[in-house]
Amino acid sequence: MKLAVGSDHAALALKNRLRDQLREWGHEVEDLGTSSTESVDYPDFAHAVATAVQQGRCERGVLICGTGLGMAMTANRHRGIRAAACGDIYSARMSRLHNDANVLCLGARVVAPEYAIELLKAWLDAPYEGTRHVRRVAKIELPEGKP
Ligand code: RB5
Repeated sequence: MKLAVGSDHAALALKNRLRDQLREWGHEVEDLGTSSTESVDYPDFAHAVATAVQQGRCERGVLICGTGLGMAMTANRHRGIRAAACGDIYSARMSRLHNDANVLCLGARVVAPEYAIELLKAWLDAPYEGTRHVRRVAKIELPEGKP
């Protein structure tokens, strides 16, 4: 699978670790930054990753900041993006099974690195169930032209 990853300065180390782990698992990864510990604005990276997924350049995205919350709030402004901020394995799995989440958001100040890897694996391994969830997921999007 091809994934886009991004983080702000608060999550640089975890982003690099997850990127390397994804590559070890055989995925293709587009790293959209940040690439230093210099303070940056998380929405810039959330928009970059969300755009890569929205445009189909990458199948899924992973965004990490201090809490994962600002990344999810920003990514979810993009039509077709379903970003889930997850801090537990159950939610990570369910975000795929029922919500067809295409972006995983994690908090580097919330979860330990080893647990973040477990969350990522659970999220990647869980398939979208489809069936009744197709109708519900379709209803997440506002109709064209609605604010
Ligand atoms: C940066 O200090 C922090 O605000 C950011 O990483 C994130 O947690 C925002 O949601």
